[in-house]
Amino acid sequence: MLEIWGRQALKGEVRISGAKNSALAIMAGALLCPEDCRLRNLPSLADITRMGEILTALGVKIVRQGDILEIDGREIKRAQAPYEIVSQLRASFFVIGPLLARLGVAEVPLPGGCAIGARPVDLHVRGLQAMGAEVTIKHGMVEARVRGSRGRLKGTKVYLDYPSVGATETIMMAATLAQGETKIENAAQEPEVEDLANFCRQMGAKIEGAGTNTINIGGVERLHSVDYEIIPDRIEAGTFLVAGAITQSELSLWPVIPEHLAPAIAKLEEIGCKIVAEGPNRLRIIPNALKATDIETLPYPGFPTDMQAQFMALLAISEGNSVITETVFENRLRHFAELNRMGANIRVKGNNAIVEGVSILSGAPVMATDLRASCALVLAGLAAEGKTIVQGLHHLDRGYENLDGKLRQLGAKIQRLDNSYQLSRN
Ligand code: UD1
Repeated sequence: MLEIWGRQALKGEVRISGAKNSALAIMAGALLCPEDCRLRNLPSLADITRMGEILTALGVKIVRQGDILEIDGREIKRAQAPYEIVSQLRASFFVIGPLLARLGVAEVPLPGGCAIGARPVDLHVRGLQAMGAEVTIKHGMVEARVRGSRGRLKGTKVYLDYPSVGATETIMMAATLAQGETKIENAAQEPEVEDLANFCRQMGAKIEGAGTNTINIGGVERLHSVDYEIIPDRIEAGTFLVAGAITQSELSLWPVIPEHLAPAIAKLEEIGCKIVAEGPNRLRIIPNALKATDIETLPYPGFPTDMQAQFMALLAISEGNSVITETVFENRLRHFAELNRMGANIRVKGNNAIVEGVSILSGAPVMATDLRASCALVLAGLAAEGKTIVQGLHHLDRGYENLDGKLRQLGAKIQRLDNSYQLSRN
């Protein structure tokens, strides 16, 4: 667990790690590469370790050194992903597209992950079926197969009912090695989708339009080796901007891609903070008195659901009434109850949270319910009077590289009370 003594001013510069969600998709995408593949700027996170375990279980050789991961995908020995890992990490389901494209067969258990809603994979499955895969779901296992001598998927038009990040990535990866052209309409436009597309392009894939709502992919016979640097994590960066606002501290963040943070920056400005660019990939937050605002989560370029919990913590101490509407996941407001234990005044009705700003929070023992919720509680603890104990740190360690260490460097009084920070860097 984490012990936080709140109301300390923070100061200085924080280094932002590589994007978790890019890294996870790109590690799956590395299965498309029949040669050496090197990834740089990989964050040290429990989720990344798990994705590495999936690759190893498929018989692929990986070597991790610091933030570099070498993947030798010459031979994929198995087409079955292990239940124990996929059940813990939803993103590991994304290997289904590359496995199918490369081997003509894939068996991947239905995924698990954060407890933030049902999170089905129907859009992934329908996309692969449209490309000619036969898919059956039996005993919790998704089995996909392409019939025919060479087992190659066929390019086609796929319209997504919802711009799902994962489904866009699955179909895009599968299409890189398919016969003919694939067009994904109503595609997710998240920066991580674009990062995955750039990675695939550097391996020789023909992809256009990633980052817009229509992606065209021309299938090629084979991809080649690549050396690729993952983009900085916009959610981690946004979280540190909120840390500056909630502690009323000036902080500088580097490296960041400011346009990826546009929705979070717009809301922080409405709340009363100033965000200034200090060069092309450095931002500084200059906080001010905090005012209420309304937030609705949406697919990119809308406000990210992955920043909703952190902003709830911030709005809890912003003057006036705010309404937060969660539209992406159906069960992602549960952190309000823990924030209320710290003195916040938040009511939830359906997918709306009504936040009545209070002047101060008070430290309390709290329990994290999911990854971003755990971070919201840490942020609340930084602003609260007295001591906060945050339990359930395995959530935090899934998605934030050394969050407590980085906050400590900025002057926060925060420490782990046990040896729960165990990230293997293999
Ligand atoms: C990704 C991110 C996650 C982020 C989310 C939304 C990764 C590893 N994770 O998750 O951090 O919160 O995008 O920005 O990149 N849905 C279906 N059927 C499907 C797929 C999704 O109904 O086949 C629904 C989900 O239940 C959810 C919504 O679509 O309600 C959005 O999910 P999606 O965009 O797919 O999120 P993920 O890719 O799982």
